[in-house]
This record gives sequence, structure tokens and C-alpha cells, in this order.
Amino acid sequence: MKQQTLPKISKTIVLVGLMGAGKTCIGQRLAKVLSLPFVDADDEIEKAAGCSISDIFDLYGEPKFRDGEKKVISRLLDDPIHVLATGGGAFVNRDTRERIKKNAISIWIRADIELLLSRTRSRNTRPLLKNTNPRAKLRQLIDQRYPSYRQADIVIDSGYETPDITVKQVISALETFNLSSLDR
Ligand code: S3P
Repeated sequence: MKQQTLPKISKTIVLVGLMGAGKTCIGQRLAKVLSLPFVDADDEIEKAAGCSISDIFDLYGEPKFRDGEKKVISRLLDDPIHVLATGGGAFVNRDTRERIKKNAISIWIRADIELLLSRTRSRNTRPLLKNTNPRAKLRQLIDQRYPSYRQADIVIDSGYETPDITVKQVISALETFNLSSLDR
């Protein structure tokens, strides 16, 4: 098969989108292809807090989590170029979104609600989907968050194809994005 040309990456690549969209899975593979480090913002928040995201929500509440999320992502954006997967709420925060828009290339990984539901069903680690109707909650988050996600530099539709195919789409979109930034 023909080898895909790799785009020149001059900024950190930040993946945004709802829970279950595949940000971590795509991010890890993308980082490998581009020979860049991969960082998961949620893991970094857990390390900084010394406990799990569920525990942060339970012990301190969502506002405290959002505060930590904003600080950790701001710090990560100062690190050398890498691929960064963010939690679903990160890009909704205006300060974080502006910081990402200024310092990184943002990619919205978009998936339909059935896929989000099937991917999030198996794990019980997401506080926003606990003790609630997950379909109704995801529907609400789609309505609330899509206007923010739409502000990402690149939008990639991820469906039932393999992650490697989605990564190829991301690579092509980055190439196009680089070319279009030459015109700006
Ligand atoms: C959240 C998404 C989660 C995690 C936290 C809150 C959200 O990350 O940050 O549970 O607000 O959508 P993933 O999107 O990686 O599941």
C-alpha cells in the first residue's frame, strides 16, 4: 500500500469531543504515526490530584474538577509538541478553548450518539453518565457542547471504521490544514 506523506507538525495537536468519541484511541495511534509523545489530560488531572476523576467529582464536586482541568491543560500546552487527548468538557471552557485555539491545532472527533453510547456503556468511570439515563445525558451534552466543538480547526467524523482509517483521515486533514494556513 502507498505510504501516506506525513504533515509537518509545528504545534501540539489537541483532540476534543464527547466521551466515547475515541479521542484517546485515535490520539495514541496518531502520536505513534507522527512519532510524537501522547498525553491524556484526564490521566494528568488524576496524577495532579492523586485520585481518580470519579473521586474528584465525589469528594470535591464538578467545579473543582473543571478548575483542575483548566490548570492542567494550560500547563500541558506549554510542553514540547505532543498529541493531547482532552476530556469531553475541556473545550467547552472558554479560557481553555481560547488557549488551545491560540497555541495548538484542535481536532474535533465527532461520532454519532449510538456509537458514543455503545463505547461508554462498558465503563463506569465517567461521573456524568452515572445514575442517569446515558442517552438523555449525551443528547443534552450534544446540544450544549457542539457549538463549542464546532470551533475546532479540524472536524473528523469517526464511525464504525477501524481506528487506523480514522487516523489516516486525520493525517490528510492536517495536511490540508497546513496548506490552507499558508494562505492565511
Ligand atoms: C467529561 C469527560 C471525561 C472526563 C470527565 C468529564 C465530560 O473524559 O474528563 O469524566 O465532561 O465530558 P472523556 O471525554 O475522555 O471520557
